[in-house]
Amino acid sequence: MISTALFLPERKHLRILSKTTSTNDAAKRWARDGARDGAVVVADCQTAGRGRSDRSWHSPPGLNLYISYIIRSSLQFLRLAPILGVVAVREAIQTQLPAACKPVIKWPNDILVHGAKIAGILIEIETQPDPFCIVGIGINVNADICQLPPAPRTRASSLRIESGRIMDRNVVLASVVEQLDNHRQRLALGGSGLLEAFTSHCISLGKQVRVNIPGHDPFLATACGLDHQGRLLVQDHENRCIPIIAADVDFI
Ligand code: BTN
Repeated sequence: MISTALFLPERKHLRILSKTTSTNDAAKRWARDGARDGAVVVADCQTAGRGRSDRSWHSPPGLNLYISYIIRSSLQFLRLAPILGVVAVREAIQTQLPAACKPVIKWPNDILVHGAKIAGILIEIETQPDPFCIVGIGINVNADICQLPPAPRTRASSLRIESGRIMDRNVVLASVVEQLDNHRQRLALGGSGLLEAFTSHCISLGKQVRVNIPGHDPFLATACGLDHQGRLLVQDHENRCIPIIAADVDFI
């Protein structure tokens, strides 16, 4: 049995739940009730964990991490929250893996190791009355191959599979929260360095991609950069540069 109880020593603004529908829902309710900047919700399992584009996020007990982190800031800075979340989680994962395993970013919010998805991030923002953002993070920690969901889009993996050893979820949790805290301080100063940290590990750039924007026909393009808000810039076959904000971008 791998499972140990979740804990995060000395964290004041923290809720640890044994089960919830989605930590993002629990964090949203808490934020509406006044939870402070940097508050954390973590659950052992989720009954309705969700990912981007209305996909579900497989959330069995005792194996993985389901974390929601609350950020309070102006809307101008919250636009960088997706970048912050991905950069922080990538760095935390890097600290848990052997140096030869290089976690990379697939725009907008996937962390891959050896081409397989280890973690995903779901950002949800509320603007009224005071803006806040929930950075929802799912990390496959100790799931074995047979415990991973079927992966119609991207092959899934876990820290255990990539490192060859069972991990302490609480060590991974502490590392993720530490990186989020560090980068949250930088957000208040304008997010300096975040875009650079993202682009330097982003494997989408320079690739031929298929862009699927909800409600539009998919089109082929080349991913060529990020703008200052973290939107992906793609160049279509007529050499138009198009900023992409909410889309699935698949390699071809
Ligand atoms: C994705 O890859 O599409 C994003 C997955 C995000 C999953 C996490 S698990 C914690 C938080 N609660 C949720 O319901 N979703 C996020």
